[in-house]
Amino acid sequence: MKSVLLATAIFAWITIPVAADDQSLMKDAKSHFKPIPSLVPAVKDNAVTHDKVELGKMLFFDPRLSASHLISCNTCHNMSMGGDDNLETSIGHGWAKGPRNAPTVLNAVFNIAQFWDGRASDLKTQAKGPIQAGVEMNNTPKVVEETLLSIPTYVAKFKSAFPNEAQPVTFDNLARAIEAFEATLITPASRFDQFLEGKLDALDATEKTGLRLFVDKGCVACHSGVNVGGEAYYPFGVVEKPGADILPAKDRGRFEVTKTADADYVFRAGPLRNIALTAPYFHSGKVWDLKQAVAIMATSQLGTKLNDPEIEAITAFLCSLTGEQPRVELPILPVSTTKTPLPK
Ligand code: HEM
Ligand code: HEM
Repeated sequence: MKSVLLATAIFAWITIPVAADDQSLMKDAKSHFKPIPSLVPAVKDNAVTHDKVELGKMLFFDPRLSASHLISCNTCHNMSMGGDDNLETSIGHGWAKGPRNAPTVLNAVFNIAQFWDGRASDLKTQAKGPIQAGVEMNNTPKVVEETLLSIPTYVAKFKSAFPNEAQPVTFDNLARAIEAFEATLITPASRFDQFLEGKLDALDATEKTGLRLFVDKGCVACHSGVNVGGEAYYPFGVVEKPGADILPAKDRGRFEVTKTADADYVFRAGPLRNIALTAPYFHSGKVWDLKQAVAIMATSQLGTKLNDPEIEAITAFLCSLTGEQPRVELPILPVSTTKTPLPK
């Protein structure tokens, strides 16, 4: 009996401080981060209705939004691969290579604004960009509207998605429908979310060490909130500019948006949800290894050199941010008609 009591006392002595550490880690984490909600969030000025989401899904997968009829949103934001293309920089119309890495569309609804430089205030403004960009889909709003109007099923779908409008088939409404679909592309229930919600054993010891380091070393100053980033803008290279191989001189980030000197080489802090799925990293897409990206951030943003176990632990924590991927049923698209503009 005595030995049982002794063993219980030793066990309590060993485990209670650990549990207390876990409690305080969870408390700290809760003060910086929020779980991904399990329900689709509301979108400003755009009610997310079933009909709009269904239409938006069709449009997202329809390559006829591109001049070539070959490239859809899903080409570069692949729903089977973490919502991006896993290329250094995207390949678009005529095999043209764009200047930046494609960020994931997963959880993009939670970002303060869209694109690495935040130049689109929301997802509906964003969606109009790639369709018209020469290096992406190279199309025009006029041809897109002609295409949609030539396909009776689309005309009917726009009518039910925008029931109070006399002429619902517009480029603006296309963007609204895509935004509504994108609002559904959220990834709840990652192990990190479970930890935030009180399941203390959802993270293993290395991941907990990584989370503690992420908070204590100061990563959290820029990567916080629901998306663990994506909330504000900072110079890439606050303390030490990475080399031109990683931060190419010609892409000055938010400077092109605001034209003010303080925006030079300023970018939105990367949202780190599902980061394990979206290599390569940074707007240049030059870094393929997440551990290397972590080490670069420490030196460039914090002026700190992390040792190998610290890098391993932070990387392990970042891998716990992978959530449940949206189950998207492939839409069957209506066939073109004789009136549909031909591919170019
Ligand atoms: C950025 C959606 C087509 C490549 C984005 C973002 C969203 C998005 C939401 C911003 C994500 C963020 O900032 O976190 C869409 C939609 C498309 C589409 C709805 C179809 C209408 C494409 C295509 C390509 C592409 C076809 C490749 C050819 C990129 C790139 C960026 C981006 C490179 C980053 C550009 C920058 O920051 O300047 N897209 N995309 N997208 N997308 Fe797409
Ligand atoms: C991007 C992690 C500290 C601002 C990134 C990315 C990772 C990361 C993995 C790449 C995201 C992607 O490619 O999708 C970390 C870690 C940090 C840390 C582990 C701590 C060691 C910071 C701090 C700041 C910051 C303190 C702000 C001062 C940024 C910015 C980007 C970024 C602006 C985008 C860079 C670009 O233009 O490509 N971070 N970060 N980060 N982070 Fe951090």
